[in-house]
Amino acid sequence: MRIAMIGAGYVGLTTSACLAELGHTVRCHDADHERIKALSRGDMPIYEPGLAEMVGRRRATGALRFSDSVEETVADAEIVILAVGTPSHEDGRIDISQVEEAARLIAPHLASGAVVVVKSTVSVGTARRIREVIAERRGSLDFTVASNPEFLREGSALTDFMEPDRIVIGADDRHSALALEEVYKPLTDRGAPCLTTATANAELIKHAANAFLALKIGFINDVANLCEKVGADVLEVSRGIGLDNRIGNAFLSAGPGYGGSCFPKDTRAFASTARANGAPQPLVESLITRNEERKLELARRIAAAAKVHGPRICVLGAAFKKNTDDVRQSPAMAIIGELVRSGLDVGVYDPKAGANGEAACPGADWFASPYEAATERDIVVVATEWDAFADLDLPRLASIMRSKCIFDLRNIIDQTEAEAAGFQYRGLGRPWRDHANVADTVAKDVDFKLHAASAKS
Ligand code: UDX
Ligand code: UDX
Repeated sequence: MRIAMIGAGYVGLTTSACLAELGHTVRCHDADHERIKALSRGDMPIYEPGLAEMVGRRRATGALRFSDSVEETVADAEIVILAVGTPSHEDGRIDISQVEEAARLIAPHLASGAVVVVKSTVSVGTARRIREVIAERRGSLDFTVASNPEFLREGSALTDFMEPDRIVIGADDRHSALALEEVYKPLTDRGAPCLTTATANAELIKHAANAFLALKIGFINDVANLCEKVGADVLEVSRGIGLDNRIGNAFLSAGPGYGGSCFPKDTRAFASTARANGAPQPLVESLITRNEERKLELARRIAAAAKVHGPRICVLGAAFKKNTDDVRQSPAMAIIGELVRSGLDVGVYDPKAGANGEAACPGADWFASPYEAATERDIVVVATEWDAFADLDLPRLASIMRSKCIFDLRNIIDQTEAEAAGFQYRGLGRPWRDHANVADTVAKDVDFKLHAASAKS
């Protein structure tokens, strides 16, 4: 099919490449002319594993083209997808002004019978609002509007698109439903589940799904705090509860809190939309507060350790998670900022997000390797779960540091190896050596009681 994409960001660009890969002809537009020029040269404005190769492959066949002309992009398109930014208002509500602006831009150029698809994450009722915006500008109703939320995780977006858990099509008319089912036919023919439902349901599914996933993360982070108090190991606890297939083990890894351009925004939008409609979501509202507090709590924990070990901190990781260069709402960045504001001397390394990180936090020193960043430092903080950090040469790291303390905020470092290399290891929800003594004491105490009981019997 002939598809137009408005917005060449993490979602729009990835989706354009994947749709071209499925055999569609895709024309992709972005208001940022520099971005379009770069893409037309084959330069990628974002890092996403496999994306550069896929864009190159499909540009070479002409299946994927970039343009900064809306008219050229939209003119003969059967499907016009809007994937422009949807930031938050101060009160958490989704700001759909970019989606409305994009709708006004395309309105005069739509082919008759075109299906406009809102892919950006928006609040319930936006598809209907966009239909009004276009009709007003176009002076006709010879088009339809549908919703098709994305469930792409940065760092695994191509796989998430090509092997989706489900495709959700929001359509209030048969024409839109059939058109979008045609778009995804290559995937549904391979067995991908597809739910076609009303647009309001599709819009709510997206927010509710992200809110639930974020709740799982918030829950395991709070369980990690309890584990630290009782000398339990959150990795074991997470494994144990995740084996229940009603719970599942995904999204149960304790960390510094959730970040990125979606969960923080989508949880706040879900909570504020719900409150505005008289159905408040206290679980999600509490989650949002706890997630913000966690980043500050961990920064305070590191700053307190700096009083013992020394003020020179190395933070490994700036991206909000591994395999992306995205630092938007990154907990690592929040912690880096707090440590810099506390007056500590902070050196940072991130395999892909260094440039974005430095632009966002010039107050830290940014390095090109983890070992350079750790040289003559007192504390290392692993803030993003890059595979490279799980494979660090710990003896080498210890040999170039002044003091030797490691905060593993992603529980990816082997505690035994870290301690063998001379580090004081601090994981999240993990028994610290002094905690391990507490656990031993508890164990001895239990033995004693059991022994006494058997002696009496
Ligand atoms: C965006 C939304 O933020 C997200 O909620 C939704 O799920 C998918 O679309 P993302 O792709 O990460 O996510 O946004 P971003 O990387 O900011 O890209 C948006 C692109 O739209 C930018 O390149 C921007 O230049 C472009 N844009 C914005 C337009 O082309 N026209 C506009 O009017 C506004
Ligand atoms: C998310 C949703 O997963 C995706 O379906 C939606 O389309 C967009 O938002 P993304 O934001 O790219 O994707 O990243 P995700 O992998 O979901 O991680 C979100 C945050 O949660 C990251 O900060 C990550 O580090 C954190 N996380 C994730 C945890 O702390 N623990 C986990 O177990 C999983």
